[in-house]
Amino acid sequence: MKNYLSINDIDSLPVWVDEAITLKKDPYQFQDLGKQKTVCLLFFNNSLRTRLSTQKAAMQLGMEVMIMNFGNESWALEYGDGTVMDQGTSEHIKEAARVVSQYCDIVAIRAFAGLVDKAKDEAEEVINGFAQYASIPVVNMESSVGHPLQALADAITLAEHNEKPKPKVVLSWAPHPKALPHAVANSFVDMMKLQDADFVITHPKGYELNPDITKGCHIEYDQDKALEDADFVYVKNWSSYSDYGQVLSKDLDWTMTEQKLGKAKFMHCLPVRRNMVVDDAVLDSDQSLVVEQAHNRVFAVQLVFKKLLETLS
Ligand code: CP
Repeated sequence: MKNYLSINDIDSLPVWVDEAITLKKDPYQFQDLGKQKTVCLLFFNNSLRTRLSTQKAAMQLGMEVMIMNFGNESWALEYGDGTVMDQGTSEHIKEAARVVSQYCDIVAIRAFAGLVDKAKDEAEEVINGFAQYASIPVVNMESSVGHPLQALADAITLAEHNEKPKPKVVLSWAPHPKALPHAVANSFVDMMKLQDADFVITHPKGYELNPDITKGCHIEYDQDKALEDADFVYVKNWSSYSDYGQVLSKDLDWTMTEQKLGKAKFMHCLPVRRNMVVDDAVLDSDQSLVVEQAHNRVFAVQLVFKKLLETLS
């Protein structure tokens, strides 16, 4: 593995999940692996979990960590080839990625979708620009279209709580006041396609995800029907993909409640808006796995760094 940009960079999800669970039992067992190695975390957007879990994971491997809030601390980057840079951008990705590569051994990047221009978002110019021009491994800490560290943490959490050979897992859209990206839902779908599960996606009409990603998945527009006999319910808001970046509905009938959840376990990547996306009663119940998901973010990224460090040494 040269970079970790997508859940599809994982050669065997079950093997990785087992390795992450083993790592979790003794997180400092590879603390010499990252000695005299540095990871640089570049944030173009806000974070709580990604920033702290990634830093924690690097520290547990003995790495040094440099963090930059790139969006408001660094120069505005240009990505276009051959652009006459007489407008707002000050530095080209070609120099920036090569320079960052001189200071560290791995670079991890968070750069969300703008949700205005679908083609621009899907081109993934930030993460792909670094992958193209950096001479060190690049890790995706949530890009325009994917959040593969979250999906790996979710796979670990599912494995830890699953008691059935083929569990029913439902991805349910929920209302939100703002337009949110598709990255978490996309990577969750990609990850579920690698699982032996009865997987169902439910959302109002108009909220279909990218059909290239959901190809072959069971989509059920009736949320109650989708939730019948579910073992795990993963709730997430996303904006419209077809009417790109628009909020078409804030219908609180889609909010996850105790009654809708039934006996299923509740999952969400966080941050979550209480009583909009999900009721207090669900988040405050023993059925909620959200804090465990956040905990598993450490072991997901630690496993990715461990594998990348092994290719460097
Ligand atoms: N789930 C997640 O990525 O959380 P943050 O946005 O706080 O990093």
